[in-house]
Order: sequence, then structure tokens, then C-alpha cells
Amino acid sequence: MPIRSLHHVSFTAPDIEKTRQFAEDFGLLTVEKSDDHFVMQTGGGDAWCYKAERGERGFSALGFLVDSKSDLEEAIEKHGASEIRELDTPGGGLGVTLTNPEGLKVDLVYGIEGDTPQEVHPELRLNTPALRTRFAEPQSTRPLGPANLYRLGHLGLYVKDYKTSAEWFEKTLGMIVSDSMHVPHNPEQTVVAFLRIDRGEEWVDHHSVFLAQSDKTDLHHISFEAQDFEAQARAHRWLLSREWEPNWGIGRHPLGCHVFDVWFDPDRYRFETFTDTDLLNSGHKTGHHDISTHEMDAWSSKPPESYFAD
Ligand SMILES: [Fe+2]
Repeated sequence: MPIRSLHHVSFTAPDIEKTRQFAEDFGLLTVEKSDDHFVMQTGGGDAWCYKAERGERGFSALGFLVDSKSDLEEAIEKHGASEIRELDTPGGGLGVTLTNPEGLKVDLVYGIEGDTPQEVHPELRLNTPALRTRFAEPQSTRPLGPANLYRLGHLGLYVKDYKTSAEWFEKTLGMIVSDSMHVPHNPEQTVVAFLRIDRGEEWVDHHSVFLAQSDKTDLHHISFEAQDFEAQARAHRWLLSREWEPNWGIGRHPLGCHVFDVWFDPDRYRFETFTDTDLLNSGHKTGHHDISTHEMDAWSSKPPESYFAD
């Protein structure tokens, strides 16, 4: 069952306006809102990628884009997806919903009409000791404010049964483990995996889904691509000035290599920006690492305890 890319995440939130306000400060753009719901997009041209309805705090669904209507039909025939429905979200399109072994709702969507991409800031031109690129020209300045976000790139999930979940993402959605981690000194017992989308020779992100063995099924974080690290650093200062709560960052993950910055939203879900991610294709061999020797941040080594706590 081929998929093209991660498309969206859906939530329920008690204070819908506060949740939306955080997301706007974070860099998402409101496309639709009422007293009971909102729908948001990045500036990268998607019709939408994040929505929430009023309700108890909860993660409702994740969604992937597929290439054709026949992929939706295949999901029904082979994997027991719900009937095809017309989507009532911006950009229209069609969708079906799968339920994974841990009860997570996974939407597959097709035929959504995208929006006009936001104007971007001029690309950074850097003067390094080895490579000078900018002469008699100051670095272009950008206003302090939300990051320009380009797309929903990946998400992390806590799962109760790592093995069953990983197999489901591999067998049902055709995803591939780029790197995994096992408990100390026991390579047989995998507890963490970074899975990418299988597009053959085409280059894709190191991971679109991150799975971690836990005692619960829940979302750990969602991650959006920002223009560059300048955008991340400025957005970091902006979010501090708006008195939102930082969780971890700015740092760089050794696996996937992206520069990350993680924040809590009002419902204690983690929102991450990332830049400079590794790209892989079918030539990549899966890496398997001992979790006790693995450093999660190439710049500071250890995450704060709150990165894994509720
Ligand atoms: Fe991430």
C-alpha cells in the first residue's frame, strides 16, 4: 500500500482558542475557525495539515497522502479501511480511515487541492572561514515572529507494543525502518524506530514516523519544516517572548541529522520545528543502535527529563 507523504494531524482540545493561538505563534496559519474547531496550514502550499475540535485533550488521527483513488480502494480491500468519503476540509479531496492495532486512526487522503505558498525570506548566504559568499552586503534581516513553516514533516508516537506497531506501518503502509534502537546489549529487543516512506530511488526524509515503546499509545511530537536555522532561532526567541513553554532545543539529532526545536502547546503536546534533515532512498541500509550508547543531541548529548514525561 504505497503512500506519498505525511499530510495531517487531528486533535481534540478543551480550550480551542488557546490551542490555536499557540499554533499561530508557532508558525501555522489559520484557514478556518469557529467556536468549536479550527483548521490550519503551513505556508508551504498545503491546503491544511493540522486541525482540532473542541473536546477533551486528545490526538485523533494522523493522515498520509496517497497517489491515486485506486490506493484508497486498495486500502479498503486489503486492509479494511472505511468507505471512501468526500473530505469537508479545505481543498476537498477523498479519504478513507484505517485503524491500527493500537486503535490509532490513520487517514489516507487523495485529490486535495493545495493553496498558494507563502512568500519566503531571502535565502541565507553564509560567510564561513572556508567559503566566502557575501561581500559588502549585510545579512538580510527578518522580523522577530513565527517561523515560516513549509510542511508537516514527521511525527513521533508512543506505542504499547513496538513490534506489532512497527510491522503494521511496514506491512500496511509500506514504510521502511531507516534506523532503530535496541535495549542495552540486546540487539533482538528493539524499542525505537525511525521509519521513512518508500519512494524507491526518490529521496525522502530520514523519517516520517518515529515509534517508541511505552506504556501508552499517544502522540509524542509533531514536526514541521522551517526555512532554515535562522528561522528556528528567531522563532525560539519569539515563542519565549510570547511566554510559551520550551521543551528541548535548539539542538541537532544524530539520527536524521536535523536541527530541532521543541515546544509544548497548551495541551502538553510537543510541537517541533526542524531543518537540514537527512534524505535517504532505497540505497540506505537500516542502522541498528544500542540505546545506551546513543546520544540524542549532537550538541548537548542529553534531553531534559520533560522530553519523555507527560
Ligand atoms: Fe522530531
